Amino acid sequence: MTKFVILEYPDPRLRKKAAPVTVVDDAVRQLVDGMLEAMYASNGVGLAATQVDVQQRVLVLDVSEARNSPMVLINPQILAASGRAITEEGCLSLPGIYDKVSRATQIRFGALDREGRGYEMDAEGLLGVCVQHEMDHLEGVLFVDHLSELKRQLIRRRVDKERRQRSTSGDRLSVPAL
Ligand code: NI
Repeated sequence: MTKFVILEYPDPRLRKKAAPVTVVDDAVRQLVDGMLEAMYASNGVGLAATQVDVQQRVLVLDVSEARNSPMVLINPQILAASGRAITEEGCLSLPGIYDKVSRATQIRFGALDREGRGYEMDAEGLLGVCVQHEMDHLEGVLFVDHLSELKRQLIRRRVDKERRQRSTSGDRLSVPAL
């Protein structure tokens, strides 16, 4: 299987909108497995297909400490949302960048699993934030889009700086990111 490369901000391909999966077949399962591999390899908590340049509504995540509880969300939909809280978020497409984002605190979502079976789940805490963050990716939205223009400019500069440093030192932060 070809290894996925995770796109990084400000790559314009991160702005593409994903289309619904029409049938959960072996090709979709291969995509899911490749995404999980890329997510775990990058020490990420979640990954959207958009981040590996595939425009399908597919998300993978694992919010467990032990990193042994993969979740698959195909064609996810938020069915209910309530509350509002600010938490610090990161993103595999913005290595080393963290900032505070306001999200619903409790959600109920529906999705298809790896076998194409529908399920619904209540989510709060990290899982709730992660589902909302990853669903944004499917719309071409990044967490920095929720911040002010000024903050985005600062982040853009930090990203450029980080990229320059990385290209010279080869170092990269490996902290959990969504
Ligand atoms: Ni992300």
